[in-house]
Amino acid sequence: MTSPSACDGAVSVRPTGAGKFRVGVAGASGYGGAETLRWLANHPGFEVCGVTSRRNAGKAVAAVHPHLAGFYEGLTFVATPEELLQTSPDAVVMALPHHFAAAYADILHRIFPELRIVDLSGDHRLDDADLYRAHYGADHPHPETLRSGAWIYGLTEMNRDAVARARLVANPGCFATGALLAALPLARCGLIDGAVRHVAMTGSSGSGIEAKAGTHHPERTGDVKAYKILAHQHVPEISLCLSRVGMDRAKRWMMVPQSGPFARGIFTTLFVDLPEGTDEAAVRNAFDNEYADAPFVRMRNGTPRLGHVRNTNFCDIAVTVADGVAVVLSAIDNLGKGMASQAIQNLNLMFGFDETTGLLVPGSRP
Ligand SMILES: NC(=O)c1ccc[n+]([C@@H]2O[C@H](COP(=O)([O-])OP(=O)(O)OC[C@H]3O[C@@H](n4cnc5c(N)ncnc54)[C@H](OP(=O)(O)O)[C@@H]3O)[C@@H](O)[C@H]2O)c1
Repeated sequence: MTSPSACDGAVSVRPTGAGKFRVGVAGASGYGGAETLRWLANHPGFEVCGVTSRRNAGKAVAAVHPHLAGFYEGLTFVATPEELLQTSPDAVVMALPHHFAAAYADILHRIFPELRIVDLSGDHRLDDADLYRAHYGADHPHPETLRSGAWIYGLTEMNRDAVARARLVANPGCFATGALLAALPLARCGLIDGAVRHVAMTGSSGSGIEAKAGTHHPERTGDVKAYKILAHQHVPEISLCLSRVGMDRAKRWMMVPQSGPFARGIFTTLFVDLPEGTDEAAVRNAFDNEYADAPFVRMRNGTPRLGHVRNTNFCDIAVTVADGVAVVLSAIDNLGKGMASQAIQNLNLMFGFDETTGLLVPGSRP
């Protein structure tokens, strides 16, 4: 058990005595919340102290998430952020819809300014209120937070040190995670010439736990379709993030998201024109150098496979270079590295643990 004051400071914070840091999960009845609970169930440094759901308030965790039976006995959902704070969390993971998340974070932060928060929504990833309105369809409830610099973008592999010092972390979008890990080495080494073409296929869990016409099983199984063509909300997040390692933010990034006939995973394909004269060795060196110390990025030959990363925190990447073009493929679990397990990776750093703590689960054969 810890007191909130034990969390002042950054990398050196440790739980007091034999206790664990206390984590609350807001929106714990949804897919991201459930996945966060799954990853925290056996974590050696964190214990879940509270969970919220407006519609399931008063119910036990296992009544809503039967797959978690036996892990959270005695823990019941509460409805409000105020009730969540009464469970004395050191940190809260917010798995809430965008727009509501920013308002929720504001409440948490006003009541308990020392609280560490990891936001899984898109509400704290951008730096511009107009961009937010254009891509999320409404005014940001607290636009002042976008330019404040208080929220650190939680692509762990890129921002390890800043995340370790952060109180507030904006977890990346799932498509953005798959694309950024594929593009980061090339952007950092100035190996992106011209527009980037980005095709990415996601599973149905990407749209959350509520059944919708587009995620209904008969509509989705056995079918593939594109959506939000050249208009996905993760593109500005990708451009902003890569501009921080030297890519021109105005560079054209052409994304075609696709919905695939499976529940979990994102398979990303990037087509990148290389500067004239770039050889394959330069491209491979860029990836090897970028990810030499990245325990969750695995370079593969030929192609990554979704089946090998499902239920893990891994991002598998493969690169092919021919005729001045690099084709970069990546595979992640959208609910894992694209969401909940990356949130735990960030929480690990924020509380002074090794980033792999509780996360080194191998993939499985399909
Ligand atoms: N699914 C993915 O692959 C993925 C990946 C990365 C990031 N994200 C982002 O992560 C967030 C959560 O996604 P998800 O897939 O877990 O969504 P979800 O399955 O729909 O779950 C949303 C949760 O938020 C609660 N909620 C809904 N409206 C609320 C409100 N106004 N105030 C408070 N709680 C509310 C819901 O429970 P109650 O209605 O009972 O309160 C539910 O527990 C979203 O912002 C999403 O964009 C999703």
